[in-house]
Amino acid sequence: MIGFLRNLFARAEPVLSEASSRDAAAIAPLHAASFRRGWSEQEVEGLLIDRHVVAHRATVSGKLVGFIMSRQVEDEAEILSVAVAGARRGRGLARNLLTLHLRRLAGLGCRTVFLEVDEHNKPAIRLYQRAGFHEISRRPNYYAAPGAKPAAALVLRRDIA
Ligand SMILES: CC(C)(COP(=O)(O)OP(=O)(O)OC[C@H]1O[C@@H](n2cnc3c(N)ncnc32)[C@H](O)[C@@H]1OP(=O)(O)O)[C@@H](O)C(=O)NCCC(=O)NCCS
Repeated sequence: MIGFLRNLFARAEPVLSEASSRDAAAIAPLHAASFRRGWSEQEVEGLLIDRHVVAHRATVSGKLVGFIMSRQVEDEAEILSVAVAGARRGRGLARNLLTLHLRRLAGLGCRTVFLEVDEHNKPAIRLYQRAGFHEISRRPNYYAAPGAKPAAALVLRRDIA
């Protein structure tokens, strides 16, 4: 029975929708599991109640499996974070979240989107390149990790209609 339900969950299509501050408790652990410096639930909640922040989530049977978040000021936005649960990666979910998110930002009057990404983060770089982002600058020694050489941050940009 448990195996059957697990299979059903694994096959179910994620539902994408806008996220609100009620999602902070689910987003914080997914963020923490995805990044070296995780955000606390309070930090996530603080972002989600900010009227400049636009966020989307992906859920399966009500369980959060992905999110994306930007801060928009006038006609520019910066993608603050995007993450997909480990078991759901590599199936186009981030691509779908990003597509929906960019469409929403465009609808809110945003013309240009920026973001920073670790030069070694291949899945993320691929995701953004496929979505039409291109590198505009590089910040050397930006991401420090214990025992590793600090990595550069690539600053990417995409213009949207
Ligand atoms: C980056 C991340 C959000 C991608 O999520 P995802 O749902 O697996 O991405 P998608 O399945 O939509 O794939 C996006 C692209 O990345 C590629 N990709 C996915 N995993 C990859 C991997 N391990 N290595 C290389 N490319 C990979 C896919 O092939 C796809 O490219 P394609 O369209 O040319 O096939 C996910 O890996 C993640 O949560 N990582 C941890 C958090 C993070 O680093 N966020 C980005 C910070 S800027």
